[in-house]
Amino acid sequence: MANITWYTTNGSSNNSFSTMTDRLGEKEVSLCSLADVQLRFLCPEDLDEVRALCQEWFPIEYPFYWYEEITSSNSSFYSLAAVYKQQIIGLIVAEIIPHSRLHEEDTGILAKSFSDCDIAYILSLGVLKEYRRNGIATLLLDSLLRNLTTPERKKVKAAFLHVLTTNSAAIRFYEKRRFRLHTFLPYYYSIKGKCKDGFMYVLYLNDGHPPWSL
Ligand SMILES: CC(C)(COP(=O)(O)OP(=O)(O)OC[C@H]1O[C@@H](n2cnc3c(N)ncnc32)[C@H](O)[C@@H]1OP(=O)(O)O)[C@@H](O)C(=O)NCCC(=O)NCCS
Repeated sequence: MANITWYTTNGSSNNSFSTMTDRLGEKEVSLCSLADVQLRFLCPEDLDEVRALCQEWFPIEYPFYWYEEITSSNSSFYSLAAVYKQQIIGLIVAEIIPHSRLHEEDTGILAKSFSDCDIAYILSLGVLKEYRRNGIATLLLDSLLRNLTTPERKKVKAAFLHVLTTNSAAIRFYEKRRFRLHTFLPYYYSIKGKCKDGFMYVLYLNDGHPPWSL
């Protein structure tokens, strides 16, 4: 779907992983450079690995066909993996949706003048626990945003996502990346039979703007 961005081994020391207890006080991270992390699109052989990772990261159960779709070689999703030593340590999954196909609760992201445009929806972003706070999610999101801001993608006027209101790590991550809170969605999620609140976060792209802008 898009250009593959490969990151090869000529790393800068600024981006290095460090052998230290990470800031959450969890496991140690291994000594390597962010430049040793490669980005590549998912392929069918990744299905089991991706499924196991998503089950670990997200409280939501995705149906099996979803994994087939995001790992398919002719997938319509932007499904990018960060790979280190042949292991997937992070991934981002996004899709580009025509504005007219948005769900009711997601309309209102853009001003009415943008009716004939597209919106990118970030379905999933996750990083293996022991590799967090090393810039892996930033690397994945940057790659997606670079793709969305190419001239071929100028119809894409915003990127958005939903997040549990309790997921402070993800909220801080997206806020640092200039995503802005758009909507509070009470009981948006149903997790293990319990309703949980969500937020929608939006980043405007390619001169897109919200309805209240003049
Ligand atoms: C959210 C998540 C993807 C972030 O991945 P990551 O690789 O650790 O993110 P980065 O290292 O690129 O973080 C960039 C910035 O985001 C913010 N951030 C990320 N994790 C944070 C945390 N736990 N607490 C506070 N700020 C955090 C920081 O500002 C960080 O910059 P810094 O490390 O220089 O302070 C990761 O925590 C994760 O996989 N969580 C579980 C899955 C999930 O909830 N995904 C989001 C679903 S909407």
